[in-house]
Amino acid sequence: MQRTPLIAGNWKMHTTIAEAEELAAAVAVASHGLADREVMIAPPFTALAAVAKVVAGSPVRLAGQNVCWAEKGAFTGEIAPAMLRDAGATMAIVGHSERRHVFGESNAMINKRLAGARAAGLIPILCIGETLEEREAGRTFAILETQLREGLAGIAGDDPAAVVIAYEPVWAIGTGKTATTEQAQAAHAFVRGVLAELYEKNIASQMRILYGGSVNSDNVDALMAQPDVDGALVGGAALKPESFARIIRFL
Ligand code: PGA
Repeated sequence: MQRTPLIAGNWKMHTTIAEAEELAAAVAVASHGLADREVMIAPPFTALAAVAKVVAGSPVRLAGQNVCWAEKGAFTGEIAPAMLRDAGATMAIVGHSERRHVFGESNAMINKRLAGARAAGLIPILCIGETLEEREAGRTFAILETQLREGLAGIAGDDPAAVVIAYEPVWAIGTGKTATTEQAQAAHAFVRGVLAELYEKNIASQMRILYGGSVNSDNVDALMAQPDVDGALVGGAALKPESFARIIRFL
């Protein structure tokens, strides 16, 4: 069983093209020569093509921050999987908490996005996570299970590398409040158990589950030491070159 750790930076709605090029260049330098882990960044759509040129020849992978299910057509404001690929992306974030909670995306819509990404050969990162209210009501696992089952409905489980899951408790995103290592491990183990029910056990044991929510250079090592934490999805700290470089080089 081999799960290559993935450190992913989600830049959200930050950076001009010039700023993105500068940040991406720093990430490429920080990723140089690392063979035992993968690094991915998700710049805003407007900067993808420029960033692709900057990271060409480096191990840094690119992702869209969202992706539409359709190949083309009347979908104002959306981006097609082939457009992401054309701009240099090989992955796409789907179901991020901000998409769910600020823009009202449903599990059904996220499932369509995920299927569209997969059909186009992009690796989707399916984000799931409970709100504070849901955690306090003891509904964390029920929420995660629903998000997984509905988000992954109809998605084949033949290739464990083809889909990545990111557990991001909503109360930990951008708040500086990280889940404890115990909370993260418990959620990740639960997620892997659901994946083992959806797919086969040996597939579930090879799928990567990232943790996200206020990951920084101080807490990354302890989080990555948890047996079911296979990487990190990093927001704020991914915009700071020194912090992200240290996160990439987690111990
Ligand atoms: P944060 O964001 O690291 O700033 O909490 C994580 C995310 O939204 O993916």
